[in-house]
Amino acid sequence: MRTICLLAQKGGTGKTTLCLHLAVLADELGRNVAVIDIDPQASARAWKRRRQSDSPKVVGCDARDLSKLLGKQERKGRDILFLDTAPHSSRDAAMAAAAADLVLIVSRPAILDLEAIGESVKIVKKQGSRSAVVLNACPPPHRGEETAIVAEARDALHVYGLPVSPTSVSQRAAFSHALIDGRAVTEFENEGKAAGEIRNLWNWIETQW
Ligand SMILES: Nc1ncnc2c1ncn2[C@@H]1O[C@H](COP(=O)(O)OP(=O)(O)OP(=O)(O)O)[C@@H](O)[C@H]1O
Ligand SMILES: [Mg+2]
Repeated sequence: MRTICLLAQKGGTGKTTLCLHLAVLADELGRNVAVIDIDPQASARAWKRRRQSDSPKVVGCDARDLSKLLGKQERKGRDILFLDTAPHSSRDAAMAAAAADLVLIVSRPAILDLEAIGESVKIVKKQGSRSAVVLNACPPPHRGEETAIVAEARDALHVYGLPVSPTSVSQRAAFSHALIDGRAVTEFENEGKAAGEIRNLWNWIETQW
């Protein structure tokens, strides 16, 4: 079983959005997947209530109970767990990072977001977690090339000394529309650009083990 944690101390960077889209894609690929929602806002659980499908499972959990829950999920035969974490909660984030095989720090490409990831980077470094940064809600590529904002964000991220996913995720209405009725972009518009980006991100994640 592999555990992937979506983390950012800043609110609204896209942790839940990426978590749910990746979880649905992994499920479509035949993996036994569960989303562990340790955010008291419970956005992933609300999405699951709107969803028509039984999979992926979404389980609410207090960060303090994480290690017990992970053992239980392993016994259920899960292949992949996605941990969706709360912002502004360094203690819970540290517990989630410690439990994860891979932490994805989610940031938007704007300067205020990039500066704010310092807190998240401190947490993963202290826990010694394998981790990388994923840029989300980026201006879409222009003629197949990533925009200057995204290229500059990559440069700015060098100071943290963490890998940055070569695939960034664009700001696309499909990412929020799909979630309205409990779906994900690969179900909502399988051939669309948003679905393509999630598949590219997943393919890169698979190279990280
Ligand atoms: N790539 C994207 N394209 C379009 N909208 C996006 C994208 N990523 C996130 N959003 C939107 O941004 C908002 C915040 O996203 P989300 O709730 O996933 O962030 P979060 O990091 O989980 O927030 P919180 O810190 O409150 O848990 C939502 O309205 C979501 O639909
Ligand atoms: Mg969230």
